[in-house]
Amino acid sequence: MSSNSQLNYWDSQSTVSRYKARPEHLYTAERRLLGLLRNRWPQVEMLDLGVGGGRTTSYFAELAARYVGADFSPNMIDTCKRRYADRFTNATFNVADATNLSDFRDGEFDLVMFSFNSIDCLTKAARFQALREMQRVCRPGGFVFFSSHNLYNIPLINQFHFQAHPMRLRDELNRWLAVKRKNMPLAEAMCQESYVRYYDDTIGENFLIFSRPEKQHADLISMGLKDVRLFSVLNGEELTLDQATSPHQSWVYYLCSR
Ligand SMILES: C[S@@+](CC[C@H](N)C(=O)[O-])C[C@H]1O[C@@H](n2cnc3c(N)ncnc32)[C@H](O)[C@@H]1O
Repeated sequence: MSSNSQLNYWDSQSTVSRYKARPEHLYTAERRLLGLLRNRWPQVEMLDLGVGGGRTTSYFAELAARYVGADFSPNMIDTCKRRYADRFTNATFNVADATNLSDFRDGEFDLVMFSFNSIDCLTKAARFQALREMQRVCRPGGFVFFSSHNLYNIPLINQFHFQAHPMRLRDELNRWLAVKRKNMPLAEAMCQESYVRYYDDTIGENFLIFSRPEKQHADLISMGLKDVRLFSVLNGEELTLDQATSPHQSWVYYLCSR
């Protein structure tokens, strides 16, 4: 199960309205999925976990034989139903927690996506439960795809970024102080851990998990996922493990075969 504080944040009217207002678009790394499945799309059954307000829906529902958007926030799912249920007859939207996909059968989907770092909203234990569920509902030979905040980016977030405009300067000062205050015991965790609970001031009072790409990569392989590939948020290019540890890769995409 996921925390009430996370659910309260994501299910609130203000968050849902904000996500609904986001323009539909795909990040360059997500666009790779279009080419990856190329002429197979008319047969593809896809699960889009943490679908939010449906930023990715039209791109994939347009191509796939069946598209299922899922989210633990009932209000996000209501929004998606209102926006897309009539537009795409092959699309359905379900309230589901990523840690418990019991509404879905083993191997039901060709592609399971949990994009835009949604997996980082879960605790470390819940993250691995969600990954096991994603693996379970993906058919052998299918794909699991997600992104996660890069732990090596933390020093850049911790920095104070000077702003010329007085209001922006005030906001940056508030952000910087909150990040400093809430992440006090971080220095030790940064040295020792691979999945660090970090407050970055982007999702209310909630913390996120920031991961070490080389450890996330190794853990995916330990789970039995294959051909694990990493992609850059900056330009969608494939990354070596070394390149993924650059502080400038604010988050990293992971593509695995089941
Ligand atoms: C960063 S938003 C991404 C939304 C959308 N994919 C996008 O890119 O705009 C994270 C989404 O994950 C959902 N989420 C967070 N924890 C979840 C969980 N345990 N199970 C299912 N969805 C979850 C939130 O409700 C939210 O819609």
